[in-house]
Amino acid sequence: MKITERKKIMMSNYYKRIPFVLRQFGLSFDAFGVETLHSGHINCTFKVSLRSKRVNRSFIVQRINTYVFRDPVGIMQNIDKVTEHIRRGMLARGEDPTGRVLQFLKRADGTNYFFEDEENFWRVYHYVPNSITYDKAEDPEVLKNAGASFGRFQEYLSDFPMEELQDTMPDFHNTPKRMENLFCACERDAVGRAGEIKGEIALLKEHEKVWGRLEKLRAEGKIPVRVTHNDTKYNNILIDRTTGEAVCVIDLDTVTPGLCAYDFGDAVRFSANTAAEDEPDLSKVSLDLGLYEAFAAGFIPACRSFCSDAEMESLALGAPTMAFELAARFLEDYVNGDKYFKVSHATHNLERGRNQLALALDMVAKWDELQRINRIFAK
Ligand SMILES: Nc1ncnc2c1ncn2[C@@H]1O[C@H](COP(=O)(O)OP(=O)(O)OP(=O)(O)O)[C@@H](O)[C@H]1O
Ligand SMILES: [Mg+2]
Repeated sequence: MKITERKKIMMSNYYKRIPFVLRQFGLSFDAFGVETLHSGHINCTFKVSLRSKRVNRSFIVQRINTYVFRDPVGIMQNIDKVTEHIRRGMLARGEDPTGRVLQFLKRADGTNYFFEDEENFWRVYHYVPNSITYDKAEDPEVLKNAGASFGRFQEYLSDFPMEELQDTMPDFHNTPKRMENLFCACERDAVGRAGEIKGEIALLKEHEKVWGRLEKLRAEGKIPVRVTHNDTKYNNILIDRTTGEAVCVIDLDTVTPGLCAYDFGDAVRFSANTAAEDEPDLSKVSLDLGLYEAFAAGFIPACRSFCSDAEMESLALGAPTMAFELAARFLEDYVNGDKYFKVSHATHNLERGRNQLALALDMVAKWDELQRINRIFAK
C-alpha cells in the first residue's frame, strides 16, 4: 500500500474518533465539522467547528506523536503551568489573554490531555480566529512582530519558578553533546558514510570555540537557565491575518529549561536564511542581515527588562551555535543511516547538514555585524 493511501486511512480513523475525544473534554454539540490543518511527521492537528444551541465555537484537536515525545504527560504538565503563569501575568497587567496564550481544555479529573491508549494521546485547545502561520519570512515588519512576541513569551516567564518545570528533553540544545554524538557516530560509521563528511567534521572541530561558548557560559554560571520555547521557528507563532501582529506563541511541546540565546538563535537560523533549510546549492545559503535585524529589533528590546548584560551579550552567539548544532544533528543522522529525520532522497540529510554548516560559517563571517545590530537594540 502506498504511503499516501495509508495516511488517508489513518486520517479517516482519527476523524471518526474526534467526537469521542471532544466528549472527554466535556464538549457537547448538535453538529460538528472537522478540517485537517497540519499532518506533519510530529503531530496531527485538526480544526473542529462545533454548533450547540445555535452557538458556533472552534477548537484545535491535536493527536500527539508519542514516539517523538516520550513523556507526553510531563509535557502537558509543563504546558499547563506555563500557560497559566502567562495568563495570570497578563491579567495582572490588565491585558486580555484571550487568543494571546494557548488555552487548553481540562477534563473532569483536571488533566489537560486524554491518554486514550499508547498510540493515541489527545489534547484540545481554543482556536485563535483570523490567524495564520508563515513558513517563510517575507515581510520584515511581521518578522519583527514575531520577534517581539517570542521575546515577550520569555518575559512573562522570567519569574516562573524553575523548580516546577520538568526537563522533558534533557540536553536538547546541549551543542557540545550534539557534537560528541556526531563524532562518535563517525567513529562507528555504521553505514559507511563517515568518509563523505571529513571536510565538514574538520570545519566543525575548527569552530569549537564558537559552538562551545554558550554551554561554557552556562556551566560557569554567567548566564542563567530560564523557561525557553526551544523551537522558535517562524511557523510557531500565530499572526493576525488583518494586522500582521504576532498574537500567540504555539507548539509548546519543547518548552523546557534552556538559554534565552537558544530561542533567539534558533529563530534567526530558521527565518533569516536566504535559502530553504535543505537547499543543496550552497551558494544560495547565507544570513540575510535585513531579516536578522528585523527579528532582533522585536526580540531584544522585549528582553531588556529581565536579561542581565552578560545574557544580552550572549544572544548573538545563539545564531551560529544553533546553526552549527543543527548541522551536527543532520550530519549525525546521515552517518547513522537516516533514522530520525524524514528524508526524501538518499543525500537529503547530508545536504541539510551542509546547508546549516554554510549558514553557521556565514554567521561567523558576519559576527561583528551581528553584535553591532544586537547592541543597538540592547541599549
Ligand atoms: N490555537 C490555534 N489557532 C489557530 N491555528 C492553530 C492553533 N494551533 C495550531 N494552529 C495551526 O496548526 C498548525 C500546526 O500546529 P503546531 O505547530 O502546534 O503543530 P506541529 O505538528 O507541532 O507542527 P510542527 O512540528 O510542524 O512545527 C500551525 O502551523 C497553525 O497553522
Ligand atoms: Mg509547529
